[in-house]
Amino acid sequence: MATDLGVTRLRCEYLVNPLGLDVARPRLSWELTARRRGQRQTAYRVLVASDPATLAEDRGDLWDSGRVASDQSAHVVYDGPALASGQRAWWKVRAWDRDGVPADWSEPAWWEAGLLRPEDWAGQWIGLPLQDTPPDEAAPDGLDGLVPSPYLRRVVRLPGAPRRARLYATARGVYELRLNGERVGDAVLAPGWTDYDRRIQYQIYDVTDLLRPGDNALGAILGPGWYAGHVGFGHRCRHYGARPQLLLQLHVELDGGATLVVASDGAWRGATGPIRYSDLLMGEHYDARRDLPGWDEPGFDAADWRPVDAQPRDAVPLVAERAEPVRVTEESPARAVTAPAPGVAIADLGQNITGWVRLRVRGEAGTRVQLRFGEVLNPDGTLYTANLRAARATDTYVLRGGGDEIWEPRFTFHGFRYVEVTGYPGALAPDALTGRVVGSDTPLAGAFSCSSELVNQLQRNIDWGQRGNFLSIPTDCPQRDERLGWLGDAQVFVRTACCNRDVAAFFTKWLDDVADAQSAAGAYPDVAPRLVDAADGAPAWADAGVIVPWTLWQHYGDTRIIERHWGAMTRWLDYLRRANPDLLWEARRNHDFGDWLSVEADTPKDVIATAYFAHDARLMAQMARAIGRDAEAADYADLAARIAAAFNAAYVTADGRVKGETQTAYALALHFGLLPPNLRPLAAGHLVADIERRGRRLSTGFVGVGYLCPTLTAAGHLDVAYRLLLNEEFPSWGYSIRHGATTIWERWDGWTAERGFQDPGMNSFNHYALGAVGAWLYRAVAGIDTDPERPGYRHIVFHPRPGGGLTYARAELRSPYGPITSHWTIAGDTFT
Ligand code: BGC
Repeated sequence: MATDLGVTRLRCEYLVNPLGLDVARPRLSWELTARRRGQRQTAYRVLVASDPATLAEDRGDLWDSGRVASDQSAHVVYDGPALASGQRAWWKVRAWDRDGVPADWSEPAWWEAGLLRPEDWAGQWIGLPLQDTPPDEAAPDGLDGLVPSPYLRRVVRLPGAPRRARLYATARGVYELRLNGERVGDAVLAPGWTDYDRRIQYQIYDVTDLLRPGDNALGAILGPGWYAGHVGFGHRCRHYGARPQLLLQLHVELDGGATLVVASDGAWRGATGPIRYSDLLMGEHYDARRDLPGWDEPGFDAADWRPVDAQPRDAVPLVAERAEPVRVTEESPARAVTAPAPGVAIADLGQNITGWVRLRVRGEAGTRVQLRFGEVLNPDGTLYTANLRAARATDTYVLRGGGDEIWEPRFTFHGFRYVEVTGYPGALAPDALTGRVVGSDTPLAGAFSCSSELVNQLQRNIDWGQRGNFLSIPTDCPQRDERLGWLGDAQVFVRTACCNRDVAAFFTKWLDDVADAQSAAGAYPDVAPRLVDAADGAPAWADAGVIVPWTLWQHYGDTRIIERHWGAMTRWLDYLRRANPDLLWEARRNHDFGDWLSVEADTPKDVIATAYFAHDARLMAQMARAIGRDAEAADYADLAARIAAAFNAAYVTADGRVKGETQTAYALALHFGLLPPNLRPLAAGHLVADIERRGRRLSTGFVGVGYLCPTLTAAGHLDVAYRLLLNEEFPSWGYSIRHGATTIWERWDGWTAERGFQDPGMNSFNHYALGAVGAWLYRAVAGIDTDPERPGYRHIVFHPRPGGGLTYARAELRSPYGPITSHWTIAGDTFT
């Protein structure tokens, strides 16, 4: 008897065939397919083998789970022996259907271990001493650290043909690798950002096909990146070190079995070349007259290159990158070119993106083409850059001369829709510039659309904001001198982010950054990695340390993330409790940002803080239960109830008014379940009254914005939520869209018809936080939601809430178990 059940999309730790993993007991997941309704898995068997041939014989020499009677198809923990460094495990799954009939074995998948033990690393940190890379005339005045990029190389002689070769590499800084004239891998800005004093990610590349018997040239180009370049505000650079360095190791297995290891060491040589400087905030300057043709080929004469300096590795752990790398994920061609002043061309991509442009140009040697980047234009059509603050966001290309030249930078990124081009020889045609969209390559997981073009544009703006700001870490904005991992922004947006893209691996990585940034006393920070804003965290910011793991558990059914951070989360709660014995969060509010960027509505900061304190405790109780810590679950539930009681006693009146009487105050009190049942409808009434009083407009800042529509919906005021969604008057999402926004603005009044641009001191046009309404589109409008009791879409709640005059809505969301679709229409009186 055949079954229609199939097994597909095998993943290991959220990734498809991860090359380089240092998780000893990784979790395996698969999706089931079937044509028949009600089909399900009743049992599974996983085989893990050390080579594909063994697996093909249906044997698992590393692990054979045996037939396990279970419907589990996500997060099945590998229970075989830990792999050795560099070892690859092959695996496949078979499932039994509801009638006990086995499906075919899945296609094989694999994962491969990284370099697991510190002693596996033989390489040293190599680079050029600063005196060998002095700044030259290309470096703009008044800026430190803009020095030429080191080019490093060495020749590796292989006595025979390579059978299998792996390159393990990282940098303090950012790197690009070359092997025999080819680029290695497709990641950009590797190794990504972590607190380099606490952990450094490394990448692994399969370079078997790039090597050949005889001489091979291995090359690396380094940039300062987050390590040595400018990050954050205040003109500050060299946060972790003064110059970039490379750490690398090549492992080659030759035909015949011999192995060869080549590491970064004093035998390498270095020089500077065409990259006269590069910096994430300031831009890149490339002088093609100084190209080093053939530098990454074996025959190159490097006699005048200098020896590198080599430093031994220190104790900072090297960890295998465990999320999708940063890549160029899409191209966005320039659509139009204008000339607002003589000699100045402005190219418009039509979309605010994060990344850079590829330039095509032809002209005389030494011609200097300058590119400046901005999100918006001045009324006279010139580029508006005041809101970039100290970020110069300027790339320069100096022509080699003689024929078409195509160039793009390597070690910078900008947030922009417009490119100002000066010095371009001849007329600039739109196709001379192509936007390169850069970000963490998190897979698309969701789609939402409906009959309102306004809402569809909102959804696009939210996703573009996410793509542009998920770049190694979740940043606040990609354009100005900031680009920090603000915890507040991340917690406000994380649920929406999960709906749009598969961000499980991305946030798993970042939560390690958050843990690294926790203080010894237990305080989570405002930003992770902790940099520039070194303060301990503020209410609604620091709480990301609890809210993000909870959300990943809800969305992906991931309990290991809870276990991993349980100790840190309890330290955080203890830290708050110790300082606030009467359970109102009064002490240790640090920067205390409040309901950041609200509109004429100041929510009292003690109300926000105490509401979050209670919320944290409640989430802790739920998470404790999920990982079997029942006694702690009871403790935290009790704590949550006591904080709620203190909240009510201090801030809530007998007729359901919450101190401050702002929309955010009500949204927090209601959404966090702080009010006694009899006061809830009253409080909801006050919330609606405030919206009405303001001409049916919202007033929430970052803290309240994501809860507003869900709270109204839960309280029976769906119509009000829809009104806010569809509003085009200031302040609203629609207002920015009506005025041309293609990403979510940092503030409701980033630009207004009356006042023009807001103060450039803080006015990003690509900040995702106010886009936190996105989750409500999926969960309420389309109506796909998790069941908190069976998280990760193990149970799916379908509960569409049509309204607002929409005639259809449709969402698709890729859960750990596969795609979920909801689609409704209204035609006349018929709801389908
Ligand atoms: C950032 C925000 C951040 C805030 C703290 C700003 O400069 O851009 O997004 O959360 O500071 O209030």
